[in-house]
Amino acid sequence: MTIKKIFVVGAGTMGNGIAQTAAVSGYEVTMMDMVEEALDRAKKTIEKSVNKLYEKKRITEDQKETALNIATTSSMEDIAKADFVIEAATENLELKLKIFTEMDKLAKPGVILASNTSSISLTKIASATKRPEKVIGMHFFNPVAMMKLVEVVRGKQTSDETMETVVWLAEKMGKTPVVVNDSPGFVSNRILCPMINEAIYTLEEGVSTKEGIDTVMRLGMAHPMGPLTLADLIGLDVVLSILEILHKDLSDDKYRPAPLLRQMVEAGDLGKKTGKGFYEYN
Ligand code: 3HC
Repeated sequence: MTIKKIFVVGAGTMGNGIAQTAAVSGYEVTMMDMVEEALDRAKKTIEKSVNKLYEKKRITEDQKETALNIATTSSMEDIAKADFVIEAATENLELKLKIFTEMDKLAKPGVILASNTSSISLTKIASATKRPEKVIGMHFFNPVAMMKLVEVVRGKQTSDETMETVVWLAEKMGKTPVVVNDSPGFVSNRILCPMINEAIYTLEEGVSTKEGIDTVMRLGMAHPMGPLTLADLIGLDVVLSILEILHKDLSDDKYRPAPLLRQMVEAGDLGKKTGKGFYEYN
């Protein structure tokens, strides 16, 4: 099937980044969210991002205009026109299963249903549909406009054809795809989140200050940002939920979330998006 129209479910940080990247790459994009204000916020975020990319001559005026004209909807029924679907809703198993059942009913037969899940089993998500061979993980990284990787996650029943189409599409979107198997946290978060968790334990135990820990990893290991700053960017709730999945599904206490992380999430200090995490943001 020729892919022209891409439908993105969820207008949060990842959803709007994916919608923007797809639009800049020449696809006709519709971004769907049940919450109208989320769509308004997403449009503003996209506008800021493409203006910056245009000023730096990283995109053309036409690409900028296409991204500014992304269609929005609060109705899932509009999925019927799509040639490809990317789900980027909140990281919650029950919610994803419900969304995939609905998407499967409304999307054209044969259309691939990809999920941007950061840790939920694709095999489990696929079981909510009657097209498990067409369900796959397409895991983008934050900020989507800047990060080159797409982790392509094959569920147990994902077909070779689906995998090849998604690899091709990720390249069309200017990304480098890496195919991995379905396992808790895949490759990216299986490695990244325990490192962030260890940084939080290190802070909690008073081994160093937050600035000290971040500087060690930036200057000693050449990470672009320290693990605590990165946790603020990802969202502490997201980091906690990934660690909980690793802890439960791999049955190993080495993934036990740091008590400080849990406490901060309970206090609503989720990082950049709430204005306060390990650091404060205006
Ligand atoms: N759109 C357009 N421009 C953007 C942007 C966006 N979304 N985000 C950042 N930029 C711009 C900045 O505004 C800045 O522009 P300026 O030079 O004009 O001010 C430029 O990019 C460079 O940014 P900075 O100077 O702030 O800093 P860096 O050079 O460090 O780049 C970064 C920013 C690309 C975010 C870099 O710090 C980085 O790569 N950090 C690591 C990010 C990372 O690890 N992401 C993965 C998170 S894990 C994940 O997403 C998976 C999930 O499942 C948890």
